[in-house]
Amino acid sequence: MNDRQLKELLEKKGTPLYLFDAGQLRRRVQTLRQALPSRVRLCYAVKANTFILKEMGGLVDRFEICSPGELEICRKLRLPWEKFVISGVYKEPSLMRRLISQGEDGGVYTVESMTQFSILHEAAAKAKKKLPVLLRLTSGNQFGLDEAEIRGILAAHGDSAYLDIRGIQYFSGTQKSSIKRLKRELAAVDLFLETLYDQYGYQAKELEFGPGFPVSYFQGEPFAEASFLEQFSQLLEGMKFSGAITLELGRSIAASCGKYFTKVVDQKRNHSENYAIVDGGMHQLVYFGQFMAMKHPYVRHIPSHTAAEAREGEEEWNICGSLCTVNDILVKKIPLKNLQIGDILQFENTGAYCITEGISLFLSRDLPEVVLITEDGAALTLRERVQTEVLNTPSYE
Ligand SMILES: Cc1ncc(COP(=O)(O)O)c(C=O)c1O
Repeated sequence: MNDRQLKELLEKKGTPLYLFDAGQLRRRVQTLRQALPSRVRLCYAVKANTFILKEMGGLVDRFEICSPGELEICRKLRLPWEKFVISGVYKEPSLMRRLISQGEDGGVYTVESMTQFSILHEAAAKAKKKLPVLLRLTSGNQFGLDEAEIRGILAAHGDSAYLDIRGIQYFSGTQKSSIKRLKRELAAVDLFLETLYDQYGYQAKELEFGPGFPVSYFQGEPFAEASFLEQFSQLLEGMKFSGAITLELGRSIAASCGKYFTKVVDQKRNHSENYAIVDGGMHQLVYFGQFMAMKHPYVRHIPSHTAAEAREGEEEWNICGSLCTVNDILVKKIPLKNLQIGDILQFENTGAYCITEGISLFLSRDLPEVVLITEDGAALTLRERVQTEVLNTPSYE
């Protein structure tokens, strides 16, 4: 899409606006696949962005689903059940029983606690089916099971008629740029799998590992991704574990396909500082690692004025959203030339978490329209602008 087409689209759709690019998404997945060993499968963590799921259907091997809502979205989009990883720290027991009794084929369930283990085990026994499960190994927080619990499960149920314990799931955090840390984690998981074999004769068939690959969000913080992925691939190749490896990824897959557009609607100068108020805000733009808007994300200025009208010079601007909180600052002191009311700011790398993680209901502001640029360049509306006041209105019977 060239600049003229983009301007026309922005005029037609208004702001704030999320724009996702199907072509970029496909290329991104290709890049990751090419950089990683061929035995590695990719699992998309649905929480990162539910609006690109349909495009993702043919691109990835699995979908990690963490809530009934995410499951419903995946089902409505008719994503194949066999690609589902039913995950999440809280699995509603009634939903689990229903899913298992309905006997949807394929898919795998993660086990995050002994409670979840019992629910899944009992439901599988009742349905007389062998349920594929992954035991989530904790990284030392509220998620997953600890090593002793996993050993206990394998000792007591390793040969269960109702559970096919396929292996281990591990995820310790996002935006991890330290290859040393990943090396430590992979080595620990590898060793743990080895001890399970030595102690229980248990041979895991697969490892589902969330590496939390980072995305470069801020100017001045470049990230040498190619060499990082090469080093990570070497770590995988060096593992003793020889079963299937699936990488669970959200941010690294989805971020680059998204842009967020917000318009300058007011300007002022308070106590010698320039402020530009935009029609979006922090409820719609989430950059991991951003602290008090101190860092400068990649922003492109799309002027609404012609060169003749433009004022000269570059000034520093504080870009603030339209929420009633002093925290609603998108960028502090960003140098911009001739910023005027009506201009649009394009924020890059907003395909992951911005649309799903923001505090969307604050101030009952509308949720932005969502548009997808398809592979043939068409602009397809994925969601109209949504009024949220209905969600913040009490209902009296
Ligand atoms: C279990 C699990 N896997 C994968 C992910 C995706 O992480 P990322 O977006 O860093 O790739 C998350 C994110 O919270 C997660 O909780």
